[in-house]
Amino acid sequence: MNNINKIITSASLAICLASAAASAAEDTAAAAQGDAAAGQAKSASCVACHGQNGNSTNPAWPKLAGQHARYIAKELRDLKAGKGRSNALMAPIVAGLDEQDMQDLAAYFATQQMQAGYANEEYVDLGEKLYRSGNFESGFAACMSCHGPSGSGNPLGGIPRLSGQHAEYTVTQLKAFRSGERSNDPYGIMRDVTKRMTDEEIRAVSEYMSGLY
Ligand code: HEC
Ligand code: HEC
Repeated sequence: MNNINKIITSASLAICLASAAASAAEDTAAAAQGDAAAGQAKSASCVACHGQNGNSTNPAWPKLAGQHARYIAKELRDLKAGKGRSNALMAPIVAGLDEQDMQDLAAYFATQQMQAGYANEEYVDLGEKLYRSGNFESGFAACMSCHGPSGSGNPLGGIPRLSGQHAEYTVTQLKAFRSGERSNDPYGIMRDVTKRMTDEEIRAVSEYMSGLY
């Protein structure tokens, strides 16, 4: 590892550790805007795709359990407005949700426990390298610098949890950012990262994150 990379990595790590410490309190604060019990009652229509307690069993559909409330509410708002993200399966669902429903559902899913995923062994070494150090040659940053050393994201910063998520779903999202089909990332952060990634790198990092804790 060269010096610049080393400096970037240790600076990122310091930020991550600080944000991890603040995470628990912030999650509680974000959840406080919504009513988790009301959200649970409203979540019956989500089970068919997102599974029991938000632990989807279909690898194409995202797990919502343990995802941060602020991020979930933002995605629901964006999906409803068709603002940089749209999906044929989610469209009829979000059409019927108001702001309070979104906050309540977000509060509910954020308090659920995400079931562990697993990583395909074949991709772990490359995936870990990219996750922790990025790719210095093509110039994309370490995922860890924003999504944290264990992939738990940052609740207040709107940075989603990635650990344990289905690799297939993650691959779809990274390719959607790369093509610009999904463009609801603030400042184009994820579009900028993914435009420098190859298909193999996308697959490897997605597999790695699925088994990351
Ligand atoms: C018919 C299947 C289906 C149903 C029912 C459904 N969803 Fe989804 N949901 C999806 C799919 C597919 C995606 C992935 C969309 C994409 O690829 O952009 C998704 C994505 C999401 C996301 C974005 C997750 C992320 O990590 O960015 C949220 C949040 C969400 N759904 C919440 C809900 C809630 C809350 C309900 C119930 C009120 C619900 N969904 C019902 C299929 C469904
Ligand atoms: C500079 C900060 C930053 C870096 C570096 C970064 N991300 Fe992100 N990422 C974000 C933010 C912010 C979002 C939320 C976008 C939104 O609001 O929809 C996000 C969203 C995502 C999502 C969508 C999650 C979901 O549930 O749909 C995936 C997948 C993802 N990032 C993977 C990665 C990977 C892999 C890397 C490294 C190659 C990486 N990110 C590097 C900030 C970052």
